[in-house]
This record gives sequence, structure tokens and C-alpha cells, in this order.
Amino acid sequence: MLVLGIESSCDETSVAIVENGHKIISELTHSQIATHQVYGGVVPEIAAREHVLHIDHLIWSCLKNANLNWSDINRIAVVNGPGLVSSLLVGINAAKTLSWALNIELVSINHLKAHICANNLNKNPKDFLQESFICLLASGGHTQILQINNYQDIKILGQTIDDSAGEAFDKVARMLNLPYPGGPHIETLAKTGNKTIFKLPRAKVGEFDFSFSGLKTAVLRLIEKTGLENLNKADLAASFQEAVCHELADKLIKASLKNNCFDIVIAGGVSANQRLRELISEKANELNIGQKINIKAPFLNYCTDNGAMVAAAGYLCPESFGLDFGVYSRAK
Ligand code: KG4
Ligand code: ZN
Repeated sequence: MLVLGIESSCDETSVAIVENGHKIISELTHSQIATHQVYGGVVPEIAAREHVLHIDHLIWSCLKNANLNWSDINRIAVVNGPGLVSSLLVGINAAKTLSWALNIELVSINHLKAHICANNLNKNPKDFLQESFICLLASGGHTQILQINNYQDIKILGQTIDDSAGEAFDKVARMLNLPYPGGPHIETLAKTGNKTIFKLPRAKVGEFDFSFSGLKTAVLRLIEKTGLENLNKADLAASFQEAVCHELADKLIKASLKNNCFDIVIAGGVSANQRLRELISEKANELNIGQKINIKAPFLNYCTDNGAMVAAAGYLCPESFGLDFGVYSRAK
């Protein structure tokens, strides 16, 4: 089955044609990072206008590059939420128009489920996602630990009560005068730093919940007190990254242990972080479940927003078109 996936929920206009939920036939992305970088974050009105400028030619070129005709496309999958409403509307309108004009099935995709389905992209069948599993979804908008029994039965075991992990990376990067989006820049800088220099606070919240606003404020106060010019930025980046990744890895592994589910999946932009991936294995070893757990992670280029993950979800967990704001039930 060939699915055309369309992603326009934030600052990436991205389209892809994917076969059977894993094999990428063609993909094209217009990233708006350079446009928003001057503002230090995404400006919704500008993002929506950029999507309008690029969505048509990306879709047509994607089809042309794949050497396909519209009659070859079995389904169109578009992200319906969560995301910036004005940006989402651009992708949704393009998808609806194509579906109506060409009589191709249209399905709705939850952006968070699409991140999870990115785990199947370019993978061998033996490594495909298999329900059920525990998932850490850490992106710019969300940070959650989920128990996924199947794609219609998702329970939130815990989530952030304030900032998402990605947001914390972006805001601390800004304090360190690093470009947007901050995660990859902090990770690169952290490689040359000493992660034990700064003792940063860990929030005391629910068993599998997160809070990163106190950590963010602690970095800000440190900079205000000492002055950025007197601080070793690499040490601060490394200490901050350690604090965030430690929290994420620790709670993920504890959730796996508590729920007796040793299949673990990570997803979302922050899952690209190598230190996070290392720490998940380290924590599993510390709790003596290193041999038992099976950790799946997307290939690095598919951790952040992309159209291919939407097409993968369009194969695996399509939903009929309607409003979907990405709300799951919270575990009792
Ligand atoms: O999943 P995503 O592309 O967008 C949302 O759905 O929100 O995630 C973007 C977020 C940004 O906050 C970015 O700084 C973060 O993911 N990110 C990273 C890394 N790469 C991207 N954070 C930490 N380490 C990385 N290597
Ligand atoms: Zn995303």
C-alpha cells in the first residue's frame, strides 16, 4: 500500500510517499528553521504562510520524484493535531482537496502517534513496532510516558506538568546564545563539557511525571549570578543535558519495570539525543533489566517532524477524519 503523508503541524512542511508503513519511496521537506531562528522560536503566523508557499510544489515534486501517478496512491494521511492550528489547516486543506478531487481515501493522523510510527521507517520487519510497549515521547510540545497496548488504547503513565523536554532544551540554548532549535546545539556543545560541574535541581513530582521549569530557572539564575562570560558554556550544557536525560531515562525504565513491560520505544525530537539513548541502557543495567529490555528508537533523521512518519502512521493507525487534539486517557 502506498500512502502519501503530509506534515504541517509546526515549522516543517514535509511530505513523503511510504510503502507498507516502512519503505520510503520519496520524501521532501521544507524546513523553516532559518526563518524562525531570528525570533528564537516559531512564529505561528509566519509558519502558516510558509506552509502555504511550499505545500503544493512539495507534493507534486514528491510524486514526480517517485515516478508515480495519482492513481498509484492508495491513501492520503495528514496530521490533524496536536499542533499550531493555522499551520495544521494548510496541510489539512491540501489533503482534503486532493482526496476530494482525485477520489483517494483520506485519513487523519495524530502527530504524536506519527512520531511513534517513525520507529518503523527504513527498518527490517523483525524490528517493526509490536504492541504492546512502553513509550517515552519527548518532543518540543510534549513529554509523556505512555503505555501503548494498541494504537486505540494508549494510557498516559506520566507527563510533564510544565515545560516539555524539548522546550527546556530550546530555552536553555537561548540563554547560552545558541541557535534555535536548541537541542542539537546543546548536545554538540555538551560533548566537550564536564557534566558533573554544575549541580542542577531535579523536580519532585509524580512517579512518572516530569517538571523542567525549575531546572530552566536554575540555569537562568546561575547565568544571572555568575555572568555568561564567566561560565564554561560546555560544562553548563553538559550538566543541563545530564539533568534532563537522567530524569527521562530514569522514569522510563522505572515505568517499564513497574508495568512488567520490557519492550521500550522512544520517539520525538529529543529521542535523537545520544546521551539520552546511552542513559536508558545504563539505567536498565543499574536495575538489572539490561538483558531483558528491548529498546527501539527511530533513525536519527526521523526523530524530528517529517512527512514519512505521517505516512507510516497512515498505514499502521489511520483514523477517520474528525477533530483530534491528541488527548488520551490518563492511567488510573
Ligand atoms: O518532535 P519535534 O521535531 O517537534 C515537536 O513535535 O515538538 O521536536 C523538536 C524538539 C525541539 O525542542 C528540539 O530542540 C528537540 O526536539 N531536539 C533535541 C535534539 N534534536 C531535536 N533535543 C535534544 N537533543 C537533540 N539531539
Ligand atoms: Zn513533532
